Amino acid sequence: MSVREEFDAWAEEGRDKGMEERHWHTAKHALARMPVESGDVVLDLGCGSGYAGRALRDTYDAERVYGLDGAPEMARNANRYTDDPQVGYVVGDFDALPFAAGSIDHIWSMEAFYYAADPLETLREIARVLRPGGTFFCAVNYYEENVHSHEWQKSIAVEMTRWDRHEYREAFREVGLHVAGQDNIPDREIPIPAEAEFPLEEWETREAMVERYREYGTLLTVGVAP
Ligand SMILES: C[S@@+](CC[C@H](N)C(=O)[O-])C[C@H]1O[C@@H](n2cnc3c(N)ncnc32)[C@H](O)[C@@H]1O
Repeated sequence: MSVREEFDAWAEEGRDKGMEERHWHTAKHALARMPVESGDVVLDLGCGSGYAGRALRDTYDAERVYGLDGAPEMARNANRYTDDPQVGYVVGDFDALPFAAGSIDHIWSMEAFYYAADPLETLREIARVLRPGGTFFCAVNYYEENVHSHEWQKSIAVEMTRWDRHEYREAFREVGLHVAGQDNIPDREIPIPAEAEFPLEEWETREAMVERYREYGTLLTVGVAP
């Protein structure tokens, strides 16, 4: 199944807003670290509902915000959620970004990068469109150390790449991005029921749920274009 088929269906079911709600728990902390300045051009890769771009525009006064998504229904919904003429969502693929070399100040991506058909090619594209000193904030919940995410591939028809922390850093360096930082952002908001309520449908033990959200959370890798 293609990205378009899989995620158009998600958008039609309203899952774009569901993801926004869940991802915001950790995304907001990572977005708050982005060195976006007034007048900057920002791109959100795999934007879903487009919440991150809107937040960057509102909080940093970014001059222009683009969101790119391979699923037209996602981009359509995202465009419906704003009437800001400086924010626009387009349909496109990670492997061929429709932007000129050096034209983007900062790039954000949450829970999307690992769907790239060729992640290294996507990183090359990111390095190409970033201006010197521009940053790529890559946030993922699906990664090797997060053993609780390994099952996810079974319920998603698009092939996913499961790198570990080291592989993310190595891949960034391979395309010429400096690695400015990497850390885990815990999700402290998702409610975790009391011990007596386990097992739950999704969680065998409370300990596993605590590990998934409070310890592993979101892996953030930050690259900087030379
Ligand atoms: C799990 S959703 C995350 C959406 C949003 N970033 C969020 O935090 O809620 C992944 C998004 O990436 C998009 N996507 C996946 N692979 C893509 C690709 N190769 N090119 C463009 N978009 C892609 C999907 O259509 C989907 O909207």
